[in-house]
Amino acid sequence: MKRKGIILAGGAGTRLYPLTKTISKQLLPIYNKPLIYYPLSTLMLAGIREVLIITTPEDLEKFKALLGDGSQLGIRLEYAAQEEPRGLAEAFLIGEEFIENSPTSLILGDNIYYGQGMHGMLQQANSQEDGALVFGCHVEDPSRYGIAHFDKEGKLTEIVEKPENPKSSVAITGLYFYDSTVVEKAKKVRPSPRGELEITDLNNLYLEEGKLGLVNLGRGFAWFDTGTFDSMLEASQFIKTVENRQNLMIGQIDEVAYRMGYTTKEHIETVIRQSKDSKQSCYLESLIHENT
Ligand code: G1P
Repeated sequence: MKRKGIILAGGAGTRLYPLTKTISKQLLPIYNKPLIYYPLSTLMLAGIREVLIITTPEDLEKFKALLGDGSQLGIRLEYAAQEEPRGLAEAFLIGEEFIENSPTSLILGDNIYYGQGMHGMLQQANSQEDGALVFGCHVEDPSRYGIAHFDKEGKLTEIVEKPENPKSSVAITGLYFYDSTVVEKAKKVRPSPRGELEITDLNNLYLEEGKLGLVNLGRGFAWFDTGTFDSMLEASQFIKTVENRQNLMIGQIDEVAYRMGYTTKEHIETVIRQSKDSKQSCYLESLIHENT
C-alpha cells in the first residue's frame, strides 16, 4: 500500500518572535530556501508523493501560495489546519481522512536531515509496512528531546519525553514511519502534563507491542531542528557551506522531483525562468543538461 506523508508545520513560533509575528516559522529562510522545502524534500526522497501539510489557520493560505497542489512537482499536496498546538500526535487525528488507513510518515516542519546514504535509508524505511521506525541522533542537550533509554544489552526499553535525568543522549528526531494502525493508536494517546498529545506516547505504544525500530543516524549525519535563532543560523551556514563547496543543492524540491522522475523538464524550465539570473537557475540549467 502506498505510504502517505504529513508535515506538521504548526506552532505559535513564540520562541522566534518577532520574526514569526506575521509569518510561519516554516516559511522563513534557511539559507536560500523556505524551511519547509527541507522536510518536504525528505519525504519526496523516501518515495512519498501524497503529503498533507498541517499548519495554523492563519498560515494555511501562504503555504498554498508557495506550494500549490503539488502537481508541478508530480506530487499531491493537501492542507489542513491545527487550531491550537495540541501536540504532534494530533496530526494523525487531523489527518485521519487523508490517511485512509495507509501507512504514514510524519516529519516535523522544522527538521532538516542531511547525510551520506540518506536516499537509500529513506527508501528502505518506506518499504517497511509493519510497525514503526524512528531515527535517533546523539545530542548535547538531551532534556530538550524525546530520549531513548536502553537496557544493559543495548535494547531500547522506553522513550522518555524531555527527561530531567536522561539515561542516554540519543534523541528521537522528528521523522517517524508508521504502519496503518497509526490513527487507531493515536486515538489512545491522552494529553501529557504539558497538555499535548505526545508523539513519544504514540511511539511507546508501538514499543510495547515490540514493533518499534530505531535507526541510529550516526556520525557523518547532520540533523537540525531549527527552533531557535541560533539553530536557524547554524543550519543556514551549514547548508551554505555544503552547497557552495560541492555545488550541489540541499532540499531543492524541484531538483528532487526531477531526479525522482516525478516531474518534467518543462517544469524545471519554468523554475529557471522564474528564478532568472540567480545561482539556482544556473544550477537547474546544468541539471537538465546533465545527460544530454
Ligand atoms: C518534539 C518531540 C520530541 C522530539 C523533537 C524533535 O519536541 O516531542 O520527542 O525529540 O520534537 O525535534 P518539541 O518540538 O515538541 O519540543
